[in-house]
Amino acid sequence: MRIVVALGGNALLRRGEAADAETQRRNVSVAVAALTEIAESHELVITHGNGPQVGLLALQGDTYVQVPPYPLDVLGAESEGMIGYLLDQELVNALGARPVATLLTQVIVAADDPAFEKPTKFIGPVYTKERAQQLAFSRHYAVAADGDHWRRVVPSPEPRAIVELPTIQLLVEAGVLVVCGGGGGIPVVVDRDGRLHGVEGVIDKDLAAALLAEGLGADALLMLTDVSAVQLGYGTAGARALHDVDAAELRGYPFAAGSMGPKVEAACRFAEETGGLAAIGSLADAVAILRGERGTRVRAAVRA
Ligand SMILES: Nc1ncnc2c1ncn2[C@@H]1O[C@H](COP(=O)(O)OP(=O)(O)O)[C@@H](O)[C@H]1O
Ligand SMILES: [Mg+2]
Repeated sequence: MRIVVALGGNALLRRGEAADAETQRRNVSVAVAALTEIAESHELVITHGNGPQVGLLALQGDTYVQVPPYPLDVLGAESEGMIGYLLDQELVNALGARPVATLLTQVIVAADDPAFEKPTKFIGPVYTKERAQQLAFSRHYAVAADGDHWRRVVPSPEPRAIVELPTIQLLVEAGVLVVCGGGGGIPVVVDRDGRLHGVEGVIDKDLAAALLAEGLGADALLMLTDVSAVQLGYGTAGARALHDVDAAELRGYPFAAGSMGPKVEAACRFAEETGGLAAIGSLADAVAILRGERGTRVRAAVRA
């Protein structure tokens, strides 16, 4: 099978966890161990989130006041390099002879995407409400509640097309395990002369992963995160996990924007567009999810 795995930025750097390099390295090694068995018997493309990491890079940049802050497209590229390097090295260590390539990936968005006016994507560490409000004032960050915590939010435009898709396709067909589309890809717009320009935003990696999986003709899209399944009534006493569910049914339920919402949307899009399997679950359960034993598995309803 051809499988696209989207690793949660929050599974690679958990909420509240220190964002140092060693912690990321350790988490990456856990992620790669969870994927080794799949990599050994399938074509595998790995994409990953960058919410905590891109926010970290922005905060680090903010401390060097001699130059203006770097724009989010450049920070997104840096985060692809940082996480991609750690993943690549660990994959090479785990898989021996299997060729691995990590690609900087640009994703085209619309310059007039309404998301630029309404930031929803959580990045960086979690804060108390008071601290978040201070940062909103002193650094001109937009901030919003993420569960019990507060975080910075940035525009998250819709991914339209993947610039490097033909290259990724060539590599996959040549048997290369590809790491690409990190952080949802670097958001770029195309001008009237067909030239690419980076824009300020962070694309949702799950929506980009669905586009990638569709473009590659993948059989399955696995979104691996820090919860074991999609839940109805999440955070309430009556929460209930969903296991096998039709895309049409799943679309009927409400989910949180900026976290589970885009995963569910990505799963429904991939299942409906391709007829393939889309699944959401815990990183540790990757193999069991593929076997149908764990996670939330989304398929398009079979039409009579
Ligand atoms: N209905 C829900 N079911 C399960 N998890 C949910 C739900 N709504 C929100 N969440 C949150 O979504 C998070 C996973 O999404 P996100 O934070 O974007 O992680 P990732 O980095 O993997 O994309 C979980 O940690 C959980 O707190
Ligand atoms: Mg997310």
